[in-house]
Amino acid sequence: MIRTWRLDDARQTLALGSREGRCPEVIYWGAPLPEREDLPALAGATQLDVTGGMLDENPDLSICPEAARSFPGQPGLIVRDADGTPLLPQFSLADDSQTDTGLKIVCADLVNRLTYTAEFTLDPATHVIAMTAELTSDRPLHLHWLAAPTLPGPQQADEMIDVAGRWCGEFQLNRTAWSPGIRYRENRTGRTGHEHFPGLIVPCRGATNASGEAYAFHYGWSGGHRMIAEELPDGRRQIQFGHAARMETAAATTFKTAPLYAVYSSDGLNGCAVSFQRHLRDRIVTWAKPDAPRPVHYNCWEAVYFDHNIPKLKEIATRAASLGAERFVLDDGWFGQRDDDTSSLSDWEVDPRKYPDGLGPLIDHVHEAGMSFGIWFEPEMINPDSNLHRAHPDWALGAEDQILGRQQKALNMALPQVRDFIYERIAALLTAHPVDYIKWDHNRVLPMPDAAQTRGSYALLDRLRADFPHVEIESCASGGGRIDFGILSRTQRVWLSDSNDALERLKMQHNAALFLPAAVTGSHVGPRRCHTSGRTLDIEFRAWVAAQRHMGFEMDPRELDSREEAVLREVTQWWKANRHWMYVADILRLDSADEAVVAELQLAEDGAQFVLFAGKAATSTQIVPRPLRLTRLDPSALYEVSLRNRASASHLSRGQQALKNGPVTLSGAALMHSGLTLPWSFPESMWVLEGRRL
Ligand code: GLA
Repeated sequence: MIRTWRLDDARQTLALGSREGRCPEVIYWGAPLPEREDLPALAGATQLDVTGGMLDENPDLSICPEAARSFPGQPGLIVRDADGTPLLPQFSLADDSQTDTGLKIVCADLVNRLTYTAEFTLDPATHVIAMTAELTSDRPLHLHWLAAPTLPGPQQADEMIDVAGRWCGEFQLNRTAWSPGIRYRENRTGRTGHEHFPGLIVPCRGATNASGEAYAFHYGWSGGHRMIAEELPDGRRQIQFGHAARMETAAATTFKTAPLYAVYSSDGLNGCAVSFQRHLRDRIVTWAKPDAPRPVHYNCWEAVYFDHNIPKLKEIATRAASLGAERFVLDDGWFGQRDDDTSSLSDWEVDPRKYPDGLGPLIDHVHEAGMSFGIWFEPEMINPDSNLHRAHPDWALGAEDQILGRQQKALNMALPQVRDFIYERIAALLTAHPVDYIKWDHNRVLPMPDAAQTRGSYALLDRLRADFPHVEIESCASGGGRIDFGILSRTQRVWLSDSNDALERLKMQHNAALFLPAAVTGSHVGPRRCHTSGRTLDIEFRAWVAAQRHMGFEMDPRELDSREEAVLREVTQWWKANRHWMYVADILRLDSADEAVVAELQLAEDGAQFVLFAGKAATSTQIVPRPLRLTRLDPSALYEVSLRNRASASHLSRGQQALKNGPVTLSGAALMHSGLTLPWSFPESMWVLEGRRL
């Protein structure tokens, strides 16, 4: 006896089956099945055989694989009774309910008195399936591990792609071959982390950015996750995501995973990327002013660091505005006695030495220059050298002799009095001044993983958002250390990296687009000589790389010469003229035939226009550029394509290419099959092409 369920949209079918009343398993996930498909027959037809050396029946690869049913891989749940006795759950189907887009499965273990509930929600517009698992019991239990509903990994895949990184080097993709055993990633740092972005892509054999089948996963949680991608002895594959193990420190009667977002694509990695981009932008982020254009930022960090001086900041603000900035963000250094990073975190009162009349005069100046005002906080942190630490050393999280990170500790966000204290300090500033933006930093890892800490941070953010709905928040953690759909349901922008090196950013942004839309991805034009890499890059390249995402500036504008100013002004104007459609465009990674070229197409929602950014990250091996194939155009439509910055062609580019002389008109078919052949260019430069459907 098998009971089945299915969820469908135009792109995919997800089908589940419960055999003999046991916990269901995914029996199909992929391209849409016809309505008349006989799911029990499908379940029967896809069953594995049994031969020598095997059990007499293959244990289910259920949505919560159970150790007690001889499952040969990692279980979906590891839990102990309050006295420490391990429980070995065996679930039976107890209840189920279904809507067009949602499915709820309830399973019960009567012996251990446990209830397991899995919920699936399919968004037919973005094609993202969000799923959670919940465990409840009639008495407090200790949780070691609870996976969001377990999904099968495709058999037609040879490898998986996951995302690692470091400070100033976020979003590095790693490819690992599937083989018997486990690819196990666990982030025990207590924040989403640079090191282990909670995402996975499984491309099926031959898939590229633009074609082939792929599956992608993202776990929307900011406290550190665990991922298991396992090939079982019988060849089946399972994918599990959940909070990092043992991060629930207290016994409880209810545990719930964060949402696991999963998507299937039949048109390459871009199919997954576009789903995540749209889902994040249109379903997860709550915009403070949904209809207002994203303002061009100016952030003063790399211009002044801790050296806040009002006349200097005013001059910088005036210049930033004249270049096109629309929001001025005052970074670290305005509070306590914060002259370097050794003190004052948690003393959120304006430093009267630097601001004798408070922030008012600077804010007024910023407003007069036509910009809005934003300010930096690092709410969850405390320096031992701070008034708060002297008054309440017990409010800090972790042992007294813990290793500090950037001379600081984290506050214990599970304590309501800590949250109230921070809330009041931030609310006082937001009430006293017209501030519409917070850069919310988190510059150290936690002394140990602790889910209550993340819940505390979420609660504080939620309270502030409810009381100050006009204030936008940027999630920063030494750059991209806290980027995930959990934090992004409470914030509107991420600081992708502390690296303002356009060359590093080019690649990072390209990879981050597998999950993030341009609308949330901050990107700033940094100093001529990058402060974190020492590399010197031309303003054109720096400006265009920033213009690929949510644009801003972060250098001291007083360092710019007149050419640099002119270029920056022009690119910023271009960005402003195009942001209305780029904000909702899809970022499509192009399959570049030249490894030195990192290229993407940003295609408008209605397909009527696009911009192509072709960044040259290195010198090519071959002498002239290889053609770059576009993607997702209408093959039968004609497009007028022009090289926006053709005036930048080097004197070493001597050919008579049509694109260098003006627009060319070609069909979508030609652009997608032969592609565009660009002029020769220097490394560390960017070609920008604009396209319009005729
Ligand atoms: C972190 C951030 C930077 C800056 C500094 C301020 O490193 O990532 O952008 O705000 O803190 O101390």
